[in-house]
Amino acid sequence: MIVISGPASTRLAERIAAEMGVDSLPVEHRIFPDGESYIRLAGSLEEEVAVIVQTTSPPQDNRLMQLFMMAITASNLGAEKVICVVPYLAYARQDKRFLEGETLSLEIVIRLLDSAGVDELIVIDAHNARSLEDIQRRYRINVVNLSAITSLSEYLRDEGYGGAFSLAPDKGAVGLAELGSVVLGDGFGFFEKQRDRRTGNIEMDVKDLDLEGRDAVVFDDIISSGGTMSLAVAGLRRQGVNRIAAACTHALFRGEAEKKIRDAGANNIIATDTVETKFSRVSVSKIIAQHLKKFIY
Ligand code: R5P
Repeated sequence: MIVISGPASTRLAERIAAEMGVDSLPVEHRIFPDGESYIRLAGSLEEEVAVIVQTTSPPQDNRLMQLFMMAITASNLGAEKVICVVPYLAYARQDKRFLEGETLSLEIVIRLLDSAGVDELIVIDAHNARSLEDIQRRYRINVVNLSAITSLSEYLRDEGYGGAFSLAPDKGAVGLAELGSVVLGDGFGFFEKQRDRRTGNIEMDVKDLDLEGRDAVVFDDIISSGGTMSLAVAGLRRQGVNRIAAACTHALFRGEAEKKIRDAGANNIIATDTVETKFSRVSVSKIIAQHLKKFIY
């Protein structure tokens, strides 16, 4: 097995290679003056299991193109199997046609990876596991969705949030809060969120959860603009919650996201290294390495 460090995930790729005790293949990468990517896989992949690690956080389209280039080149260089570790999978939120004529972006990404000859795609906390499963059934590629929520919760427990309530900012994330509560121990619940499909604006129905004086952790898959997380944190603050942690797997943090969440009253913000940021306290390298062991024979 050889780990190929995609330009978007060099540190995570190194961590995975170190966990597995396998070599990593350097990738030569440049951006031409007009914005196109140059990629060279500098080494032999003959009869190897090639594990390409490349997250697809912004700039998503460039990173996806680099991923396709690496996957097809790995096959061209004779790799026996091509596995793509894409810890943050871009376009996963557009998994349905919410308005007539919309593109099914998630399916397009899966279809392109499938036609690039990728044998297995490994993602972490996909936005909607069910849609991903439904889509992958239509293709040859095997898609594996692993979760980092238990690792995030263990980190939070060790940082003093043991016994905290686990909250999902919307119904779609309730599975994450449930997983968090297994480690943190004080139950879980969710608020209700509505998003205007045309403007993107969100509103949140904040239920009274009787949490006065208790600690709480809000779990979400993604923090992007920080709108969802800040509304949930503010809702908890109004209920007299003691300490509040904002936890997510994928920290995109666009614009004023951090300020919004802190101004809403969060005491801590934590995330994984699916997207490397200053909030990355938990690495997903062990979870991925554990899964990849099945390919070492
Ligand atoms: C959507 O349902 C996701 O689970 C997240 O809640 C959402 O992507 C977060 O985006 P933002 O930070 O822009 O509110």
